Amino acid sequence: MKKEKIYLSPPDLTGKEQLFIEEVLDSNWVAPLGSHLDLFEEKIAEHTGFKYSLAVNSGTSAIHLALLCHGVKKKDVVISSSLTFCGAVNPILYIGARPVFVDSSFDDWNIDVLLLEKSIKSSLKKPKAIVVTSLFGMPAKFDVIKSIGIKHGIPVIHDLAEAFGCQVNGQKPGEILDSAIVSFNGNKIITTSAGGALLTNNHEHYQRGLFLSTQAKEPGTGYIHKELGYNYRMSNVLAGLGLGQFTAINDKIEKKRKVFKYYKQQLENIKGIEFQEEKTGCFSDRWLTALFFNPKHFTTSPVSKIIENLAGENIESRYIWKPMHLQPLYKEYDCYSGEVSESLFENGLCLPSGTSLKPVDQNRIIEIVINTLKVFQ
Ligand SMILES: Cc1ncc(COP(=O)(O)O)c(C=O)c1O
Repeated sequence: MKKEKIYLSPPDLTGKEQLFIEEVLDSNWVAPLGSHLDLFEEKIAEHTGFKYSLAVNSGTSAIHLALLCHGVKKKDVVISSSLTFCGAVNPILYIGARPVFVDSSFDDWNIDVLLLEKSIKSSLKKPKAIVVTSLFGMPAKFDVIKSIGIKHGIPVIHDLAEAFGCQVNGQKPGEILDSAIVSFNGNKIITTSAGGALLTNNHEHYQRGLFLSTQAKEPGTGYIHKELGYNYRMSNVLAGLGLGQFTAINDKIEKKRKVFKYYKQQLENIKGIEFQEEKTGCFSDRWLTALFFNPKHFTTSPVSKIIENLAGENIESRYIWKPMHLQPLYKEYDCYSGEVSESLFENGLCLPSGTSLKPVDQNRIIEIVINTLKVFQ
C-alpha cells in the first residue's frame, strides 16, 4: 500500500480558523473589506514591528505594490537577489522595469553585500529600488543593506515571504527596516490559503498602496480613475482564516525550528553536509530546512537521486530555487557573479519541513538521505 504523502511545507490548521470564519459569515459581512481584515492587519503589524500593514491577495502583488509605492516606472533599473522565487521578481517586469541580479554569499545564502554595492556602482542608470529576499526564513544582512541603501539613496524592499518569523538582535524586522512584504500562501508559516501583505513604516506609502490595491479610485462618490489601479485586497473571509492561524504563530515558528534542529543533529556528522547557519544575532524562522552537499566531498551531486528516492516513498523534496539569472525568462538581464547561487541550486536540497511533520516520518526521511549518500561518498 502506498504510504501517506509527506509534503514539503503543507498548510497546518490550528482548529480555530472555523470560529473566525463563522464570525465573518454570521456577521453577514463577507464583502471584501471588514473588521476581521482590520484585526488581521493589526496582528501582522504587531508581529512584524511595522507601523502599517496592508493585506492583499498574494506576496507577489505585495511586491508589485511596494515597487509602485517607491515610484518604480518603466525602464527603471531594479536590483534583486538572484536566488529567490519568481514571485519576488516578476513584478519588476509587470512594470516594464529592468531587473539586475546579484548573487548570494555562502555565509547566509542571501544577497552578497559586496556584489550588491558593486552592482549599484556599475549601473549606468541609478537603480530605483533594491529587492532583497530573506531565504528560507534567514534574515539577510539587514543593517549592512540598510546602510548601502542610505549611502546610495536607493530604497530597499525586503521580501520576507519566507521569513515572517525572523528577527535580528532581538528586534522585529519593522524595527530595523522601512519596507517589506510577506506571503500567506498555503506553504508559508501561516496561511490564508492565498495572500500576502505590504509592510511599511511610511504612512504615505501605506496610503498609496491602499489606493493602488483598490482600483485607484479617486476620493468621492463618482467612479473617477486617473491612474491604473489593481484589485489586490484580501477579503474579510480569508482574514478570518489568518486570524485562526495567528493563534499558533509562536508555536509554528518553534516547530519549524525544531524540525531544523533535528535534521541538523542527525545529519551534521556526515562529511560534506552543510546547513544555512544563523550568524550572530540572526534568528531564522526555518521555514524550510535545506542541505548543501559540498561538492568537494561527493563524487557528483546526490540531490536528484535523493529527490527520486524520497519520491519513491511518497515524500516530497525539492531543489533550492533555481536562480533567476538561469531562468529562460530572465536570461537577457545582467547578473553580478552567480556562482554561489548556481552551486546552491546544483548541490542543495529542501527537505520536508512542515509544522505537522511527525518525528517518525522525519526519521524515515533522514534514513533515506543517509542511505542514498553512501553511493556518492
Ligand atoms: C521569496 C518569495 N517571494 C515571493 C513569493 C510570492 O508569494 P505569493 O506566492 O504569495 O505570491 C514567494 C512564495 O510564494 C517567495 O517564496
